Amino acid sequence: MDSRPYEEIRYTPRPGHADYPAEVRYGGYQDYRGGGRFSGRITAAYVAAGAIAKKLLKTVGVEVLAHTVQIGKVKLCKEVSYEEIRRETYRNPVRCVDPETAERMLEEIRAAVRDGDSVGGIVEGIALGVPAGWGFPIFDSIDADLAKMVFNIPGVKGVEFGSGFKAASMRGSENNDQYTIKDGKIVTETNNSGGVLGGLSNGMPIKMRVAFKPTASIPRGQKTVDLRKLREIELRLRGRYDPCIVPRAVPVVEACMALVLADHAIRMGAIPQVLG
Ligand SMILES: Cc1cc2nc3c(=O)[nH]c(=O)nc-3n(C[C@H](O)[C@H](O)[C@H](O)COP(=O)(O)O)c2cc1C
Repeated sequence: MDSRPYEEIRYTPRPGHADYPAEVRYGGYQDYRGGGRFSGRITAAYVAAGAIAKKLLKTVGVEVLAHTVQIGKVKLCKEVSYEEIRRETYRNPVRCVDPETAERMLEEIRAAVRDGDSVGGIVEGIALGVPAGWGFPIFDSIDADLAKMVFNIPGVKGVEFGSGFKAASMRGSENNDQYTIKDGKIVTETNNSGGVLGGLSNGMPIKMRVAFKPTASIPRGQKTVDLRKLREIELRLRGRYDPCIVPRAVPVVEACMALVLADHAIRMGAIPQVLG
């Protein structure tokens, strides 16, 4: 990694990045060269650990998937099957299942680059095969643990399960998932709960949507302050920056979900603590 561009911004915090609070918190001992705790690079370790978690989950029939459902203002509007998510997600650079939407998402990123700017977006994570009844109320409920884990991905600003924020404007009769029997199993007709009720899995797919902000580091001039001279200055960034972190975050969301669910599976006794 070329850390030279970071020398120039050591005392001029980037708006939207962690530089200023990290300087206050760690008094210069933070890694200001771009490779530290606040860099997206930290998520490589999440993905490595997540790969092991996914293998453990496979032994109990749980699968975790993730894909891009929004970049900037471009949304994936059509329903996609789990099979399509498995097959198509990694076929294009934005990790969106639908090729036509993926092309529009790419154009959204290109437009931001032309403006010296950046865009955010949303990653949907899905866990299939989680049986009903996993979770530990009150402090370790399954949705609380998943939300906490994904908030440890740099750049995450929002999380919702199932109907999420939309539930606030729905009626109970619309939002309640009604029970039925399918192939001898208790299931719900809809999945507005996102597979979690009362902090416990309910046997339906766990569905969460994770919102990422637009990348903080942008080439466009921005106002900041020189921390040593206590003077306002204009910041013009050099170096390599992602105009959109969302495609890179897809395997990270997947890994985070897998880590939390493997942990719950072990604590529930579904996966033995020591594999024989
Ligand atoms: C995979 C990944 C790559 C990232 N790359 C960048 C980047 O190139 N430039 C940047 O400003 N932020 C990047 N971020 C986000 C910042 O690390 C994050 O915004 C910053 O630490 C501030 O934390 P917060 O946004 O969670 O408040 C990346 C995040 C992830 C997950």
